Amino acid sequence: MYTEKVIDHFLNPRNVGIIPDADGIGQYGDPSCGDFLRVYIKVKDGRLVDVKFLIQGCPAAIATSSIMTELAIGKTIDEALKITDDDILEAIGVLPEEKTHCSNLGAGALHLAIEDYLENRKDN
Ligand code: FES
Repeated sequence: MYTEKVIDHFLNPRNVGIIPDADGIGQYGDPSCGDFLRVYIKVKDGRLVDVKFLIQGCPAAIATSSIMTELAIGKTIDEALKITDDDILEAIGVLPEEKTHCSNLGAGALHLAIEDYLENRKDN
């Protein structure tokens, strides 16, 4: 049902955890009733130098969140804001049809973390 790439990112998710001194935090979904993703970002010289996440969700959501961090790290703020649900889906490859919505948490939480950073901008 899942490709090897999805299984790899599910079993060995990259960049799981929190950034204690994060420059921005974004949460997408609802922890009280289901799946949600919280994303922490660290910004230096206008680039995302670190992105970490905590998640409550299915294997597809865990794998796509892991892929999202790989796509986002190293990007400028503008580039990261342009990462879409489709970009994440394309990067992970094939997901079962009924699981494609699980990949939608990643871009949403990332964009909210960037908005949080922009609101409390600490250029460093
Ligand atoms: Fe809810 Fe995948 S995150 S079914």
